[in-house]
Amino acid sequence: MIIINCGSMPKLVIIYGTGSHNTERMAIAIEEGARAEGIDTVLKNVNDADKNELRDADAVAIGSPNYNHAMMPTVKKFLNDISDIDLSGKVGLAFGSYGWSFEATDEINGKLKSYGSEMVQDLLIKRMPGDEELELCRRVGSLLACKIKK
Ligand SMILES: Cc1cc2nc3c(=O)[nH]c(=O)nc-3n(C[C@H](O)[C@H](O)[C@H](O)COP(=O)(O)O)c2cc1C
Repeated sequence: MIIINCGSMPKLVIIYGTGSHNTERMAIAIEEGARAEGIDTVLKNVNDADKNELRDADAVAIGSPNYNHAMMPTVKKFLNDISDIDLSGKVGLAFGSYGWSFEATDEINGKLKSYGSEMVQDLLIKRMPGDEELELCRRVGSLLACKIKK
């Protein structure tokens, strides 16, 4: 039997802001978990991100730490810039590191939902993720991959 699969692989795009690398550590672990499931991934700091990457994504994970009861301004700007991209049918994740409050992930979740994304539960880690927390991030990456693998 010859099986020819011309379809492209499911793709997860991960975009994050970070001040002191905690949210970045989460983002890298999410990608590791997704890659382990054999899907395509794109991982970008928001400062290097191109919104067009989202167009053919099957899942979108956007991360920001909480600073002064809000997400980072760079992430906020990116989320506003993607308002013309239809995220309906795409799986969405809001994630980020925090100290004592949840505004950043709440806002990301609301924005992605308003663009049509089907959100999974937000992923929040307090301060610097340790081994257990990084493993949790990997599992969430695998979960996203499994949701978009058919
Ligand atoms: C100036 C400053 C303001 C902060 N404001 C908040 C806040 O309003 N709410 C909160 O939960 N954590 C706050 N934090 C804690 C950060 O969210 C936390 O250190 C987080 O791990 C930073 O993630 P990052 O390393 O990805 O930048 C603040 C930290 C700093 C330095």
